[in-house]
Amino acid sequence: MSYKYMSAAAAASLIHDGELLGLSGFTPAGSPKGILSELALLAEKKHALGEHFQVGVISGASTGDSCDGKLSRAKALSFRAPYTTNVDFRKAVNNNEINYTDIHLSQVAQRIRSGFLGRINTAIIEACDVTAEGRIYLTAAGGISPTIARLSDRIFIELNAAHSKSLIGMHDLYEMERPPYRQPIPITTASDRIGLPYIQVEPSKIKAIVEVDLPDEARSFVEPDEVTTLIGENVANFLISDMHTGTIPSTFLPLQSGVGNIANAVLSALGKDPTIPPFEMYTEVIQNSVIKLIKEGRIKFGSTCSLTVTNDCLQDIYDNMDFFRNKFIIRPSEISNSPEVVRRLGVISMNTAIEADIYGNVNSTHICGTKMMNGIGGSGDFTRNAYISIFSCPSTAKGGKISSIVPMVSHLDHSEHSVNVLITEQGVADLRGKSPMERAKAVIENCAHPDYKQLLWDYLKISTKGQTSHNLSAAFGMHQVFLEQGDMHLIDWGKYTH
Ligand code: COA
Repeated sequence: MSYKYMSAAAAASLIHDGELLGLSGFTPAGSPKGILSELALLAEKKHALGEHFQVGVISGASTGDSCDGKLSRAKALSFRAPYTTNVDFRKAVNNNEINYTDIHLSQVAQRIRSGFLGRINTAIIEACDVTAEGRIYLTAAGGISPTIARLSDRIFIELNAAHSKSLIGMHDLYEMERPPYRQPIPITTASDRIGLPYIQVEPSKIKAIVEVDLPDEARSFVEPDEVTTLIGENVANFLISDMHTGTIPSTFLPLQSGVGNIANAVLSALGKDPTIPPFEMYTEVIQNSVIKLIKEGRIKFGSTCSLTVTNDCLQDIYDNMDFFRNKFIIRPSEISNSPEVVRRLGVISMNTAIEADIYGNVNSTHICGTKMMNGIGGSGDFTRNAYISIFSCPSTAKGGKISSIVPMVSHLDHSEHSVNVLITEQGVADLRGKSPMERAKAVIENCAHPDYKQLLWDYLKISTKGQTSHNLSAAFGMHQVFLEQGDMHLIDWGKYTH
């Protein structure tokens, strides 16, 4: 089969108003960049002529600026799922300009298969190679590519020379059947291989191949600061103490770690601690810190959905693929984040909260209950099914004007039933086996910033007693006073007592 090669602009011109696009990638890693940049330009031209032009986009997770940034700025997005981190997208969503549906990442492929999200018209898949027989070799992520390749009407391949062909063989691509034909996922250790290293499609379905040379639009890496270092140390010390009591076996358990700087700081602290044995990761993103620890022999193996690393780190991996070949594996998101596998392996989950309440409920997505930050990502997939689920965050935000520990979370992503441990730079609240009122004491005492402790104790004093004591008029008082006066310290519980 000989494929039709064309420019990114020519491929973009084949996409129509109202189409639903399915994208490869997971985070900026492995997301298509060339065709979408041209699509944004095309949308702007059409809008200038007074034509309607918008598309829907489903990806594995977030993407880079070429998708969420450029398409948002061009007002070319009508619908988006399941997760993004882009600032311009965030503004548009919070302005109600884009219909955004925030989905547990393990469920995206299943929802596409079930038809909940509509029919994918065009799958745009970044590849490092494609054969005449229709074998597609992905780049730095697994995402939802196997599902969109199979179910879309047509496929456009972005053949990206910026990714090395040495990636061939690093993927393990496996798609689940629909119920009632679904079988157990046969993964019993993080390194098990259960699928193929490529996606097989009917070659005639590939309607365009676009050759590009565009690096991933990776976010920069920030070294741990004083607060994130303390959080990292608190997490490491907590895990060591659980290992000493035998809750965590001396061989350790696979870790999942979320995105961002806290996750990097936590892993760096775990890596430095000689009492923690070399461990495995069963996670959705491998960040720079994981690659460093693999090189140092502290991480034995990483199962991931993407290499969410800086470009110099990615180049280092490509240059040393002989070393890395048996050190990590890239899976589709429904497998990397599978509740079934997470529960079986006994994964310890470590994710970041925007805010947590005194009872252990966690908000990961909404600022002051209304404004979307990013989305739930994979945090729910792991937290709900983890052997031990940990959330961490700094005890305050916005220069201390916000307490991350509040009476009641302004939006709920992870309930008290799923959250085992809460950790800030102040300390650790181990919530396992505790009643709500015992949890409140542990959270206020160990996690709240000293500036806010008394205010939180005072909230309990004005609350109606119950299994979970609350004052429903005052529960969001700290949020309200921040919105009105810019500082949660200014809360006056007195106005809620009569
Ligand atoms: N109230 C208001 N704003 C808050 C806040 C709070 N309680 N806590 C944090 N913020 C603000 C910060 O000030 C910062 O704002 P800025 O961008 O204007 O500086 C922003 O939220 C991000 O906070 P930061 O401390 O930089 O955290 P982060 O980069 O580690 O991200 C989450 C934290 C929760 C937003 C991020 O981890 C996330 O999106 N999580 C959900 C998805 C997930 O967990 N994925 C991993 C699963 S594998």
